[in-house]
Order: sequence, then C-alpha cells, then structure tokens
Amino acid sequence: MYQLTTKRIVLGITGGIGAYKSAVLLRLLRRHGADVRVVMTQNACQFITPLTMQALSGKTVHIESLAQATESAMLHIDLARWADLILVAPASANFIARVAYGFADDLLSTICLAATGPIIFAPAMNQQMWLNAATQDNIEKIKTRGIGIIDPVAGDQACGENGPGRMPEAEDIALLVAKSFTSNKLRGARLLVTAGPTREAIDPVRYISNRSSGRMGYAVATAAIEAGAKVTLISGPVNLPTPDRATVINVLSATEMYSTVMQNITQTDIFVAAAAVADFSLETIATQKIKKTSALCTLNLKQNPDILTEVTALHKPPFTVGFAAETENLEANALTKLRTKKLDMIAANQVGAALGFDAEMNALTVFWDNERKQLPQASKSSIAKTLITLIADKYNEKNTQKAH
Ligand code: C5P
Repeated sequence: MYQLTTKRIVLGITGGIGAYKSAVLLRLLRRHGADVRVVMTQNACQFITPLTMQALSGKTVHIESLAQATESAMLHIDLARWADLILVAPASANFIARVAYGFADDLLSTICLAATGPIIFAPAMNQQMWLNAATQDNIEKIKTRGIGIIDPVAGDQACGENGPGRMPEAEDIALLVAKSFTSNKLRGARLLVTAGPTREAIDPVRYISNRSSGRMGYAVATAAIEAGAKVTLISGPVNLPTPDRATVINVLSATEMYSTVMQNITQTDIFVAAAAVADFSLETIATQKIKKTSALCTLNLKQNPDILTEVTALHKPPFTVGFAAETENLEANALTKLRTKKLDMIAANQVGAALGFDAEMNALTVFWDNERKQLPQASKSSIAKTLITLIADKYNEKNTQKAH
C-alpha cells in the first residue's frame, strides 16, 4: 500500500486522449492523502472538462492564460513553490517540446520552468510521434535536467495503431509517484524527532506556550520515514495528523518531553530536536485557579533542562541535529548553539510574519563543521526532504569515518 499523506501535487493535464485517465489518477492521488491542484492547458480542455476535474479535486481548476494567472498574484510562482511534486499526465509531444526548449507561454509550462522541486512527466501520444527522433531528443534533454519520465506503454492506440505511446493506467502512475517520494538513504537507522510546542502549566486552567505548529518536526519525521528510517516522534500538543508508520508519543511539558527523550535515546542513531521547547516553567504550579485579586501578578519561573545539551553530554550521543529559530542575528546565534550544545548540525530559520513558526513555508540555513547550505524557501515538506538527505549524508559520512 502506498501513502501520499500531506503531499502537495500539481497535476498538469495537456491535450491528449490519455486525459480521460487523469480523472481516475486525480481520485487515486487524493484517496491516498495527497492535496492536488489541477492545472490544464487549453488543449486539455478539449479532451476532458475542467468541471469534471474541479468536482473530483474539490478545488478550483487552473485554466487561466498566463496573463490572467500573473495578474492573480503570481499564481505560477505560488503553485511552483507550493508543490512537492509537479506531475504532468498526459504530457503531449508538443508540451514536452515546449518544456525542452524552456518555453513559458502558458500557466503549466511556466510552472514547470519556475519549479525548484521534482517534476514527473507521463508522456502519451501516437506511437510514431513517440518514436520520432525529435520527441526522443526532447525526452533526453528534459531527463538530463532531472525531469522524471514514466515511459508510455505499448498497445492499441485510440488512433487505431498499435505501439508504444499509451499512458500507463492511473494505478501504475500513482504507485510510481508514491515511490518517487521514497529513498533508501536512512534504511535501518533509528531516528528520534521532537516536534511542536510545550505547555507549562500555571494553574489548573492556564499555561504558557508558544506559536510552534509542529509542522516542521512532523515533516522531518515523514521525510525520515520515506528515507527508510524507523521513526519515533515525541510531540507536544499540535493539531496535525499522525505521520504514517511513525511511533508517536504525546507529551505536554518540557520536563515530560525531556524524560521521554531520555527514555528513548539509547535506541536512537539520529536525534532531531525540532520542538520549540519552553525555556522556563513555573517554580510552583498553583493548585487552584489564580484569582485576579491584585493589580500585579508575579510568576516565578525556573529554567527547564536543555534536552539537546543533555543528549550530547551522554557517553555515546547519537548524531544530533538542533534547530534555531531566530528573529535576529541568525548566523551568529546558530553557530553559537552549534558549538555550545555540541551538535553535529543545526538548521536555522528566521522567524517572522511569513516564514517559520505556524507558517506553511520555510527556508533554512544548515550549518555543520565549517560548512553551510542554504535551503531556499519551499513547503515544509520539501525543505524537510532536503534536510533529511543532508542529515543522511553527514550521518553516513561520520559512520564511515568511525569505521576506519
Ligand atoms: O537554545 P534554543 O532554545 O534557542 O535552541 C533551540 C534548539 O534547542 C531546538 O533544537 C530545540 O528543540 C532545542 N531545545 C531543547 N531543550 C530546551 C530548549 C531547546 O532541546 N529546553
């Protein structure tokens, strides 16, 4: 069984008889958890109606001309950044040729040109058009640029001919799409992630917390599972669906998160601390609701244990990754944390209005040893995937060094 939970897919449809299969494909992608936005070319609308796709996707179908789309607040850039995957099925010979030559003369081709994430095409056309050297050259061209191709299958064609050019069945495409999100980079590794905020009780009804949504930590957990790791997620109070195949332990306070991490840490190879742990908790929690009897109310706070520091102080610490959410001096603060908390890696993000806490998108700068890597603005899911790849590379490097 395959899962596409939380995956955001732009399903591009171009003009070809295979477009009728796109309706089933859309249903399958959604059934397996994907959030799908449909973008159709004008030619695609001759083969299947936007209304059908709208009814099946539950969202507005984008069929605007480029000019209209640009007017509506840079739709092409927004969709390109929003997507974890751009899937064009069917991709016509004409569309493939236009993308191969960098054309951006309609919404879908512009999204393909503006995308920084993965793109997959499922070409479908007459067998002679598929076998034509021009099409094959264009396919080679886009393959070398990293666009994945789901090869057409051979068989009877709508035009009455027989040969390669049919779009594979929707089930097969959905399976390949799900597989495209997985890798073996962390096969066998045990990963522990903390996510979300913590809650520090003041009295039986009140608490101190922060604006962390937990989305980044949950995205890291999902990306690690997709990379083959066995994942335990220790989560503060959040409003998010549980990632498939993760062991989730729910906690409330920082001390509860600390003791739960410590109970699990000896069975951990990689520890990623993405939680926004409260630095302080109440010295004493009032047993009854505090009354507003005076104009001023003083709360005495004591420092919570720093989970990361406690983990790296262990005799055999796991490969440890911290996060630094900063409102200023991002680099200096992140580098200080990397050293003082003795981390293997730190992922730093500027928190503000549009990014970071409680936001859909994120951008990170990752620091380790004397190196750094910028992960430009993208969905938290796609940022998490790149971060997990980086963690896997450095973790595997460290293990290889240890072995020598
Ligand atoms: O020191 P600061 O809280 O800014 O560091 C952030 C990093 O430290 C995050 O990775 C966070 O999960 C972790 N942290 C922790 N225990 C705390 C406070 C923060 O593990 N008590």
